[in-house]
Amino acid sequence: MKIRVGVVFGGRSGEHEVSLRSAQSIIDAINKDKYEVVPIAITREGKWLTSEESLVPEIVVRHGYPVALLSDATHPVLVRIDAQMSFYKQLDVAFPVLHGTYGEDGTIQGLFEIADIPYVGCGVLASAVGMDKILMKKVFAAYGLPVVENAHFLRSEWERDKGSVLRMIEERLRYPVFVKPANLGSSVGISKVKSAGQLVPAIELACKYDRRIIVEQGVDAREFELSVLGNDDPKVSLPGEIIPGAEFYDYNDKYVDDKTRFELPAKLPDEVILSMQQLALQAFRAIDASGMARVDLFMERQTGKIYLNEINTIPGFTSISMYPKLWQISGVSYPELVEQLIELALERKRDRSRNLIIPFQ
Ligand SMILES: Nc1ncnc2c1ncn2[C@@H]1O[C@H](COP(=O)(O)OP(=O)(O)O)[C@@H](O)[C@H]1O
Ligand SMILES: [Mg+2]
Repeated sequence: MKIRVGVVFGGRSGEHEVSLRSAQSIIDAINKDKYEVVPIAITREGKWLTSEESLVPEIVVRHGYPVALLSDATHPVLVRIDAQMSFYKQLDVAFPVLHGTYGEDGTIQGLFEIADIPYVGCGVLASAVGMDKILMKKVFAAYGLPVVENAHFLRSEWERDKGSVLRMIEERLRYPVFVKPANLGSSVGISKVKSAGQLVPAIELACKYDRRIIVEQGVDAREFELSVLGNDDPKVSLPGEIIPGAEFYDYNDKYVDDKTRFELPAKLPDEVILSMQQLALQAFRAIDASGMARVDLFMERQTGKIYLNEINTIPGFTSISMYPKLWQISGVSYPELVEQLIELALERKRDRSRNLIIPFQ
């Protein structure tokens, strides 16, 4: 019997389109002799759709028929949403390929936990912490890992007393600073602020996207990314360098302009590569990640000092994305990577099943 994999893509996030592209590459690469793929599209509105005719994400999201995942742990099934509400297909494992909100932030992971379905990638906690730039940096700092100086506040605090928020920022940081919504990706809502005059509009912009805001010390740095794969004993790829075409690696640069250059592998001395790899593994462990994550680092140009920028728990996964590319140059092909991720999901589930559930007294 084939293992049935529900590949979940699209979603209610700014990264809906990227997700469709990532999912297409993953579906193409899945070994169909071993696995049966059930495509599951989530529309921008949050409707779940599947299809028997097509494995093309763009088509499923437009022409699929409505299904829902049952939250009943004794029936890990998709149900057709029609007059009969009939059981449709049992899922053996889910592969969420959803970047950003409602996909990478622990919410859908929680749904899979409730439905008792093994799933690829990080669990609820690691996903939520990895998504939140404030908590992520606090956790890294608590483990003694290097992060840039930062300050954070609530939107409501800003609205109540702008003066004291501005004072707090200027006491702690020097220009340039980066202002970011705590929970978002793809550089949306992020501004580089070079002088006091630009700070207020940057905060106002970030406040449109989140109720918590982080302001970070800007560093003049080269940017590197590493891929991590595994559960309790993860392995790490070689680093790649991102050379942004714009002033920083913003949304346009990521998805529109196509001016970014990538150096794969990054040209760095062996000992620097080694320390970056150790840092990436420490970051992965710090948030209790599992399956996969891409760890992004800064190296300050003047001092050579390395900082953790962030961890991404569902990184871009198109055939030309950094995460799989870094594995390719480190000896793991794209189809092998997809297979290993599914196996890691099943392994994690087996490990969790060993936990005793305290019986009701
Ligand atoms: N503290 C910082 N110093 C210098 N550049 C930064 C800093 N924070 C962010 N950047 C630039 O902005 C980009 C996006 O920021 P990041 O925190 O990675 O957000 P996202 O989660 O949207 O990718 C980075 O890739 C980098 O180019
Ligand atoms: Mg980033």
